[in-house]
Amino acid sequence: MREEFRYPGRGAPIPALLAALILLPMGAAAQAPEEQGRRLFEVHCARCHGLDGAGGEGPGLRRENLRRATDAETLREIVDRGIPGTDMPPASSLNTQEIGAVSDYVLSLGVVARVELPGDPAAGRELYEAAACSACHLVNGEGIAFGPDLSDIGLLRGPAYLREAIEAPEAAVLPRHRTVRIVEAGGAEVMGMRVNEDTFSIQILTPAGEHRSYRRSNVREVELLPAESLMMSYAGQFDEGELDDLVAWLASLRGRDDAMTGEPE
Ligand code: HEC
Ligand code: HEC
Repeated sequence: MREEFRYPGRGAPIPALLAALILLPMGAAAQAPEEQGRRLFEVHCARCHGLDGAGGEGPGLRRENLRRATDAETLREIVDRGIPGTDMPPASSLNTQEIGAVSDYVLSLGVVARVELPGDPAAGRELYEAAACSACHLVNGEGIAFGPDLSDIGLLRGPAYLREAIEAPEAAVLPRHRTVRIVEAGGAEVMGMRVNEDTFSIQILTPAGEHRSYRRSNVREVELLPAESLMMSYAGQFDEGELDDLVAWLASLRGRDDAMTGEPE
């Protein structure tokens, strides 16, 4: 780790002080191992594997089963030595303890998936189809893109959030999915999910799956409704067991393999 901050101008007092300041918050002793692992990942791995391991020029690591790092020990070895013949470099500037911390962090990225859920994903998939969720959602390209794409929702959100999204959608609307009410110049009212907006215009997606763009100067009213969702609540429509199944199905959606590896070519 230390070599990272060694400066060529040897003995120069100011860089040395800077290095100490940078190293201070990263010092191993002062940090919980998870926090240390996350920071090391951001410094040494994120430029290829993406922030939070979402993938970039290196493969996405937010998955339960890694292709090469099939167990904890192989994972450490890969981090330590790199993968010869590929762009995966050895972490030569990290010591053994740091390699352990960053490897544990990589393991934790797949943990959303490793949680044992009570439901049955296959039954959940049937409920998803029967309830016509795909009238508003895409899963691996199937359905209608009105609500958010759910293809990798199991990687992005935990089970408690998924359950709430079904039972009380208005409580689980992310800011980027806000509901907007627009009163057009002629008085017609349109509701949609916000897609984008700036000072002069706003773009929404209507429940019919139509993209519409409005100039603010041409409409009577634009209102954001943070506490409303265009998804109806399904509370009471599923019993407890069915909700478990539905959540298990959503949690199993982790993107298609080809979409997730993020490898070049
Ligand atoms: C210069 C880019 C680069 C950097 C930096 C980098 N990696 Fe990688 N990594 C790759 C590439 C490319 C692969 C895929 C190699 C292959 O299998 O062809 C890879 C593969 C891996 C794998 C195996 C994935 C699997 O599916 O089994 C793990 C684990 C991994 N990297 C962890 C890390 C960690 C942890 C760090 C930081 C200490 C790191 N990498 C830094 C590019 C990079
Ligand atoms: C009428 C369209 C519509 C239907 C039908 C619908 N949804 Fe949604 N869904 C949305 C919209 C719009 C959002 C974004 C606003 C929000 O989070 O409530 C959303 C959000 C979600 C989210 C959260 C996504 C995220 O990125 O946080 C999940 C999970 C979800 N829906 C699951 C389902 C399931 C399961 C069903 C069927 C039981 C379903 N939806 C039926 C429109 C719909």
